[in-house]
Amino acid sequence: MLDDPESLIETLKKQLQWHKERGTYGIREPDLKKHSESLQMIREDLGDCQRCKLSSMRTHIVFGDGAPDADIMFVGEAPGEAEDQQGLPFVGRSGQLLTKMIAAMGYNREDVYIANVLKCRPPKNRDPESDEIVACRSFLFRQITAIDPQVIITLGRPAIQLLLDTKEPLSKFRGMFQFFQNIPVMPTYHPAYLLRSPSKKKDAWEDLQKVMATIKK
Ligand code: URA
Repeated sequence: MLDDPESLIETLKKQLQWHKERGTYGIREPDLKKHSESLQMIREDLGDCQRCKLSSMRTHIVFGDGAPDADIMFVGEAPGEAEDQQGLPFVGRSGQLLTKMIAAMGYNREDVYIANVLKCRPPKNRDPESDEIVACRSFLFRQITAIDPQVIITLGRPAIQLLLDTKEPLSKFRGMFQFFQNIPVMPTYHPAYLLRSPSKKKDAWEDLQKVMATIKK
């Protein structure tokens, strides 16, 4: 994943710090169980989900989309109107920008995997509520384990708060590698925010370049 000894040491330090803060010292065992649960099995378990109140308002569940063995996994917030209609993540205006960001990194959308904190659209695109996140999060965590990407890129605040189990603002982490289990996580801005604040695109591009520098193709 990271060949350069200095960045490897930096990464290990951050990883150990992450575990220290959570009292979970220890390195994950070699991936003997890798891909033991497929995305299809997780989707089947999700079924016609009624685990939270959003189920009564949705048109489609938006499970996630992309390569099951992707190097890069993006985690957004929740489906919007277009996603709810089509059952696919990031297909509206934010999705068009995300697709451009992916292309700028040298990938096609089909090469990466895209999922969200929530699999159903919150009414009027309001922020995810904690009971909804609690009901939904294990499916995202299982998707991450199944895909086992080299890097996760979180888009916006709810995704990084969920993966780091924190209430700290995005500004505390943006642009700096974090860890979920021992997968590096790069927190960056949500494309919807970038559409509203185009001057931040430069920062987001720097974040994506840091990710590209760590990917072993
Ligand atoms: N915004 C998100 O966070 N996710 C989507 O899938 C679409 C828009």
